[in-house]
This record gives sequence, structure tokens and C-alpha cells, in this order.
Amino acid sequence: MRISESKIDEIRNSADIVDIISGYVQLKKRGKNFIGLCPFHSEKTPSFTVSEEKQIYKCFGCGAGGNVFNFLMDFKSISFIEAVQEVAEQLGITIQYEKDFYAEGQSELEELYEINVLAARFFSDYLLKSSEGEIARQYFKKRNIKPQTQKIFDLGFAPEGWDNFLHFANENKIDLQKTKRLGLIDINDRGEYYDKFRGRIIFPIFSPNGRIIAFGGRILENRENTAKYLNSPESAIYLKRRSLYGLYHSKEEIRKLDKAILVEGYMDLISLYQNGIKNAVASSGTSLTEDQVQLLSRFTKNIIVLFDADAAGQKASLRSIEILLKQDFEVKVVSLPQGEDPDSFIHKAGKDKFDELISSAKNFLEYQAAQYEQAGMFEDPAEQTKAIRELVKSLALVNDELKRILYVKSIAKKFNLREKLIENELNELFQSQKQKPTIAKTIVPRQNFSNGSASLKMPQKYSPYEKELVRLMYSGNEEIVRFIFDNLDYSEFENHDFRKLASIVEENLVVSKISPAALIEKIEEEELKNFIFNLLLEDEQISKKWDEFSFNGKIEKDTIAYAESVLRRYKIFQINEKIKLNSQLIEEAKEENEKMELLKKNKELIAEIKILNGRLE
Ligand code: CTP
Ligand code: MN
Repeated sequence: MRISESKIDEIRNSADIVDIISGYVQLKKRGKNFIGLCPFHSEKTPSFTVSEEKQIYKCFGCGAGGNVFNFLMDFKSISFIEAVQEVAEQLGITIQYEKDFYAEGQSELEELYEINVLAARFFSDYLLKSSEGEIARQYFKKRNIKPQTQKIFDLGFAPEGWDNFLHFANENKIDLQKTKRLGLIDINDRGEYYDKFRGRIIFPIFSPNGRIIAFGGRILENRENTAKYLNSPESAIYLKRRSLYGLYHSKEEIRKLDKAILVEGYMDLISLYQNGIKNAVASSGTSLTEDQVQLLSRFTKNIIVLFDADAAGQKASLRSIEILLKQDFEVKVVSLPQGEDPDSFIHKAGKDKFDELISSAKNFLEYQAAQYEQAGMFEDPAEQTKAIRELVKSLALVNDELKRILYVKSIAKKFNLREKLIENELNELFQSQKQKPTIAKTIVPRQNFSNGSASLKMPQKYSPYEKELVRLMYSGNEEIVRFIFDNLDYSEFENHDFRKLASIVEENLVVSKISPAALIEKIEEEELKNFIFNLLLEDEQISKKWDEFSFNGKIEKDTIAYAESVLRRYKIFQINEKIKLNSQLIEEAKEENEKMELLKKNKELIAEIKILNGRLE
């Protein structure tokens, strides 16, 4: 099923996001925007913001954000196409679908999803019905996974043999090249296709919206020289660093309980789920990535990490914790008894014991401190310093200052350490981090407009002018956007993220698709997307500062004159940076004529500034 781009544009442009969201969330007008209680996390004061002008929404509490389609996708757990259909229906727009489901011209991605659905059905049929599936059924019995649970997670079985799936694919006229790209089959030296998943239990991996994006396969009996798990390679629909096993099944519960449990394995997650613990996600044996944490943060900011007792488990967990702390998660830790993983533990000890274990979870820093205490490190002065230094490294990851202070106090009290000692160590660490040499030498932001959350996830180094230009590019005013691109080559931007954001606008300017709601669909990185949300929805506040800084309200904002003024100031700023760099080189220069050359250059640059200044205001 395919809806044409232009139809999607028409639907997006005709929809009013305030109308549609109002059907589900009570909104109140505040300033230019509407606010309400966020439907994606529980809160008492509204931080869910909807902009009628920009046709986007953003929750400043949990980070959820997007356009009208994203809202419906998240709120109702439906696919993009379904969201488009729903909006169209509300608006009374009829959709003509382009050709048939299987017909040529079908969207490439849709076809890949479809192949995975067919493959999953093939594997689960083997598990449920065939005689070859008997060993797999026995295996699940042995591991206490009930048929109902198998169905919930769409588990399956790939029998031994090189061409079981291949036959099925041929019979069903499935495109083999695409199937190979999904990692379901491969090709040998003689140019023959063969099955990748053989003699394995199959775990389909779902996107947060419930689409099958990949597979994991476990061998029935552990054998040497055979990897226990085989996983699909990355593909156009599977980005490892962005998917979290189990999230689709657990997201509602995570939202409801406002807390998630992090485990390592497929079996851990499934086993917990079957025992009524439905708010887990699995990292699949590696440490979490920033993207995964960002994804999870849409549902909760509270996480309990279940350490496997083994060393590898601990190491992966530590790295995950670091990433979680950096993104302001409240991290608690539980360690399992030696030799157990969550699956084996809940099976042996039962749900009550498991719940007990979870409620005994310690805040991560306390956990770390407790480990040092146990090792006797707090008794010996030299060891104590070492331990505090390690603790401070973790503390430094906590962005929220208030939280950090509270942690310092509680750790000091609990472990009988001097608060001042920890504070000093922390300050020293921050100091040394500040002094680290920076690569981007030429840009030094003197006015930082980034105190608000608008800059949270963005690198610290950028010029405020670049930021203001990016804001104007995403303002939706085509005249202004064209004016900027006529006068500026964005490749000059120092900041790499801004260059990327600007290039997206330029690409879409060609087809005049520059409404904020359309543009954000094109931004892939969550962090950049968030940056734009913040920039657009907080712009009243930010631009006030901007007015005070240099325009004194003389120029009406968001007009061509304003854009011109920002542009000119940016160019002057850039030239000044060049002059500064040259002056530094002059000081360092050994040869006289090198010095002269640089002085001459600076003179020219100063003249350029004069011209630009003359045209200002
Ligand atoms: N894993 C993997 N490839 C491997 C080993 C592990 O991808 N060769 C991933 C899988 O996602 C697995 C997770 O790491 O679920 C944890 O590995 P492990 O603890 O070894 O497996 P379990 O999930 O406990 O599986 P089982 O209980 O069936 O042994
Ligand atoms: Mn296990």
C-alpha cells in the first residue's frame, strides 16, 4: 500500500495539529502556543507544548515530539501510513492508493517489512505445526516458555537444512536479492543462495511500533565453534543502535509504571514478561547506545539495571549506565546472585523474590560506593582517594546540578566521608575537563543563548549567529529561507550539526517543502530533531535575549531585514575570528615576510568589516 508523497503533503498541510491533539489531550492557550498534560508520561504540571503556527508538538518533560502524524503513531501505537489515513479521514480527504500491495513501485521499505512478516510466519508455522518443529517445542517446554508467550513474541523455529526458507521464498515469489539484504539468505561461491538461519529458535525483533525489522536465532544446544546467537545484519529497516529488544511489548507498561528494567538477553525479557514483569527491555548483550537511551527516554527516565553476575555482564552494564546518566536517567542497580541471569533467577526464585530484589535496587552511585566499602577501600587513606576519584567520575556524568549536590550529600553521609573532599575532587575534575584543548579553535561563542534546554544535546561550540540562522531556516517563511540561501553557503558553518540541518532545508527548498512539520520528518537524528523542537518552540524566550543583545528591538523580527542583519553580523563575526587567528599566527611567525603577509591580510579583512558595518542598520 502506498500513498503518494504529494498526497501526504496535502494531508499534512491541511491538518490542524491543535484540533487533532485536542481530541486526546486537553489543551490550553499560553502565549503563541498551547500546553497540556503530556499523554506520554505522567506529570502534574503541563510541559506538553503544541504550536499551531509551526504545526508541531513537543513535551519538555519526556522529550516526545513531532508533527501530527508522529503524535498519532505514538499515541495509538500505529504505523505512519495508518496515521496518515486517520488524519485524512478526519479531514474528509480521499486517498487514492498507488497500485497494489505487491505491485511494482511499491515502496522499497514496505517490501522489506513484508518479507520479514512472511519469514516470521514461515518460522512460526514450523514451530507450531510441523513435525520438524517438535524439538523446538520440546526446547521451549524445557525452558518454561508457554505457547501463549511464544505467540505474543511471535517466536519461531528454523529447521536444519540449507534451503527450507529459500524454497518458501521461491514459491511465494519473494525477491531474493532483497531477502539477502535482510540477512535471511546468503549466496555461496558457486552463486547459489542458501538459508542463514538453520536449526535455530527464532526471535523476531520489533520496531517500537511493532514492525518486524530483524531476527535473532538461538541454537538449540550450546556447541563449540557455533555462535549461540545469530542476528540479522543491519539493513535499510534495521539499525542496531536504534532498536531495543522488547520495547514494543513493554512500552505501555513502562509508561504506566514510569520505570523500565534493563536486562541483557532475549530469553530474560521473555521470561520476565511471562511472569508478569512487563516493563523490561533487553540490550541484546551489548552496552546501550545513545540512540537507544534517547528512544527509551520517551517512555521513562527511570531505569533499573539488572547486572548479570559475570564480568562481561558487569562491563556492559557499566558502559550502559554511563550513557544513561549522561541523558539524565535516574539509574538504579540490582546485582543477581552469582551464576544467575534474570531468566534463571525468576524461574528458580519466583515473582515475589524477584519483586523483592527489584525493590532493593540501589541508586547507582550508592551501589558503586558500597562496592568500594566492601573492598575495604574507605579504611585506607590512599585507597580512599582512589575510590572517591572513581565515584566522582560517575558523579560528573550527572548533568543536573541539584541532583549532583544531593548525591554528594547522601554518599558522604552514608559512607562517612567528608562532603568537602568529594566536592573538591569534583571541582578539580570539572576544571581539568574545561582546560582540555579544543579542536574547533576559531569559533569561541561569547554570547551563549543556550542556557535553556535548547542546547541540551548539542555540542557546546557554536556561534549564536549560526544558531539564529538555523532557527530562521526552520521558521517556515519561504521568502526568508530563500534570502538566506541566496546569500550564504551553509558549508561555511563551523558547526557540523548546523551544516547538516541547513543542508536538509536546502534540499527541500528546491521543492518548496519547508514547513517545519514537513522538515522535521526529514531529520533522522533524534538529537538534532530535539534541538529544532526546542529552538522553534522556545523561540519567544530565546529571541527576547537576542533582541536585547544586539537589535534593541529596532528591527521587526522574522522579516527579511532581520535576516539580513543577522547574516551580516555573522559574516562580521566570521571575519573577526579570522583576524584573531591571523594575529595569533603573527605572534608565532618567525620570518619577517610571513608576518608582513599576515598583516596585509588582516588589513584587508578589517576593510571588509568596515564595508559590512557601514551597511548595518
Ligand atoms: N548475544 C548475541 N550473540 C551471541 C551471544 C549473545 O547476540 N553470540 C546476545 C543475545 O541477544 C543474547 C544476549 O546477548 O540474548 C545475552 O547473551 P547470553 O546471556 O549469553 O544469552 P541468554 O540471553 O541468557 O540466552 P540463553 O538463556 O538462551 O542462554
Ligand atoms: Mn540466559
